[in-house]
Amino acid sequence: MKTNKRLLLAMIAISTVLSASEIDTGKLYENYCVVCHVTDLEKMKDKASLIAPPADEIMEHMKYEFENKEKAVKFMAEYMLTPDPKKALCASIETFGVMPAQKGIITLEEAEAISSMMFDKYPRKEFIADEVKGRMTFEKLDVNVDGSITAKEYQLFRATKNNIDPSKFINSYYFDRLDLNGDGKMDREEYNIMREEKRRKKNR
Ligand code: HEC
Repeated sequence: MKTNKRLLLAMIAISTVLSASEIDTGKLYENYCVVCHVTDLEKMKDKASLIAPPADEIMEHMKYEFENKEKAVKFMAEYMLTPDPKKALCASIETFGVMPAQKGIITLEEAEAISSMMFDKYPRKEFIADEVKGRMTFEKLDVNVDGSITAKEYQLFRATKNNIDPSKFINSYYFDRLDLNGDGKMDREEYNIMREEKRRKKNR
């Protein structure tokens, strides 16, 4: 697994922070999370400087994926203590790499408290996902028009949409899950399954 140097540096920055004694979720977030998951709207705009998805973006994905707060909090707390790239719901894992495990840094109780706070607070209304602009279609993704989409094509679309340098993609964890038969490509049927799943969740 390729480790991201910038994530390691951020972890070192955290280890110098004193730990909080009571569960003050705002403080915990400031101490352990904000160094990677920024919440400053100005900083969020400078996409090239980001080393992890901002809090608003994470919560947009979580609320989309889980039908209630309880399920989202359970997933998030487990994920942050022992991240598993096979379970990650943020496609940005492909540029940022896997999050460093917080086990031993924060307790399960603290992880749940932070998740609950994040659920209540994010995404903020100032955070507008520019979804319509970059709406995905099979044709847009299939750059070389060969009837199937590779991880590279999928990532190129997302790089263009989000102004990310395509060379920043260091893995294909997210794409691999869309490639249901594991042949390295997403064909039209697999694409339709993904879209259908997204529609189903959106209309829930
Ligand atoms: C050193 C940087 C770093 C720190 C510190 C960090 N994270 Fe992360 N986190 C990431 C990256 C990178 C991702 C995206 C890749 C992934 O999902 O593993 C991520 C993803 C997540 C996700 C979404 C997982 C998914 O489904 O994709 C949650 C929730 C999360 N972080 C919560 C937290 C919380 C809460 C804290 C503080 C206790 C924290 N993180 C600390 C880097 C970090």
